[in-house]
Amino acid sequence: MLRGFVIAGLLLNISLVPHASAQSLADESGRQLYMRFCASCHGPTGNGDGPVGSQLEVMVPNLTGLSRRYGDRFNQAQMREIIDGRASVIAHGTRTMPVWGYEFWVDEGADMEAEAAVRTIVDKLIAYIRSLQT
Ligand code: HEC
Repeated sequence: MLRGFVIAGLLLNISLVPHASAQSLADESGRQLYMRFCASCHGPTGNGDGPVGSQLEVMVPNLTGLSRRYGDRFNQAQMREIIDGRASVIAHGTRTMPVWGYEFWVDEGADMEAEAAVRTIVDKLIAYIRSLQT
């Protein structure tokens, strides 16, 4: 009886510990996230000249001219959709860029909290890319 109680307590404790909070990607800066996940293709300065990008058959876009390309404004919602990718992949099929919304979600533990972390991570990436606009 007592033993069952202790075990239940232990399980409860474990489930109450927020997962991976110390190493959550959501704690990294936009620049850190960019360097870790995006620079290999889009280049360290966003010019589209990353080492992996040059191996691809498709052109990797330069991310520093998005405001100009999209008519002098930086569209936050559109950026979110492109980077997250989960909605557009369902709508349009395949793409070359990884579906980051899914990648980050899995990385953060694939649960409800992970969904919130994905939002934070993508927000930071958007803010960082915005700061790269020339
Ligand atoms: C494997 C290479 C690769 C990586 C890594 C990558 N991208 Fe991309 N990205 C692409 C390609 C290629 C495209 C063009 C669309 C396509 O073919 O999928 C693209 C398109 C984009 C666009 C749309 C640009 C436009 O002109 O509308 C944005 C924004 C973007 N990427 C942001 C990111 C961010 C943020 C990351 C990191 C989280 C990232 N990318 C990582 C290859 C990559």
